[in-house]
Amino acid sequence: MLQKIEEVKKQFALDVDAVVTPKDLEELRLKYMGKKGLITGLMPMLKDVPNEQKREMGMKINGVKTEIENALASLTESLEAKRVAEQINNAEKIDITLPVETGVGSLHPRTIIQKEVEDVFISMGFVVDMGNEVETEFNNFDAVNVPATHPARDVQDTFWLNNGQVLKTHTSAGQNRILSKYKGTCKVVFPGRCFRNEALDAGHENTFFQMEGVIVDENVSVANLIYFMKEMLSKVFKKEVEVRLRPGFFPFTEPSFEMDVKCPFCGGSGCSTCGGSGWIELCPCGMIHPNVLKMAGIDPEKYSGCAFGLGFDRLVMIKSGLNDIRALNSGNLKILKPFKLNI
Ligand code: DAH
Repeated sequence: MLQKIEEVKKQFALDVDAVVTPKDLEELRLKYMGKKGLITGLMPMLKDVPNEQKREMGMKINGVKTEIENALASLTESLEAKRVAEQINNAEKIDITLPVETGVGSLHPRTIIQKEVEDVFISMGFVVDMGNEVETEFNNFDAVNVPATHPARDVQDTFWLNNGQVLKTHTSAGQNRILSKYKGTCKVVFPGRCFRNEALDAGHENTFFQMEGVIVDENVSVANLIYFMKEMLSKVFKKEVEVRLRPGFFPFTEPSFEMDVKCPFCGGSGCSTCGGSGWIELCPCGMIHPNVLKMAGIDPEKYSGCAFGLGFDRLVMIKSGLNDIRALNSGNLKILKPFKLNI
């Protein structure tokens, strides 16, 4: 037995010297440590050793086994060091003068639209501000006249955080912060990401982008609202557009409207973009409810204001002909890369 152990040891010393590549090393490991390896093969021999020698032989086998394991580990290390050194020194040189095929990136279509709309508002004297993505329940609902018992809470079901705050369901959630910040006279737009607990389909996403706008001054009227909206939409669609107001309902505006734009694609005769009606519903809006002004510390006897919302995802879809909102959050470059805004 002892002789056999010594033979294995000697043989290993010879084999080690022949190792040059990682493949040689792996073969060596298998030869000694594999299931049918030489070390593994020593163990069953113990049963033929007289009992009084078993312990000593067992320790000898383990000793050789540890020696071989250590030798294999240090060989692994030195081969890896050699590989890295070779890689650094010569084998792998990168020719930085070779032309590289790089696709040119672009902004997300929704970002393009957002910047475009912001520029239009800036040109009309508006300030671009920001809302929060995580909002208090008060700002998202109560401050825009939607108390806990209001049915409008159901249609804006959202994601609640453990601390009682919400992922904002609409950019209107920023109204209280913005109105309190500017205290009275202001013309502000505030774009942002919104969230709703929606069943997803081609027209509904749980994450979408809106822009909110407020105009507050001493004598703001519906005429101001129509003027700014019509100007903005004409610039966005790059032609003079016709708009119309229909009655709408929102708890935070009184009166509330839906503003439609005459279809810029067919001029009102009816096409697939406007669903044959000749009009596209685009801007929910209205005169800011006195309660909303009051909650922001603004005197509704002195000031009046109008507010509007604009959905960027929908605007991108209208301008590009995309018919599935989910593509916008998909990160699918096959769809997003060749994106063309037709207007
Ligand atoms: N916050 C509303 C929504 O997401 C949109 C809206 C309607 C905003 C009327 C307004 C407004 O500012 O006046 O459904």
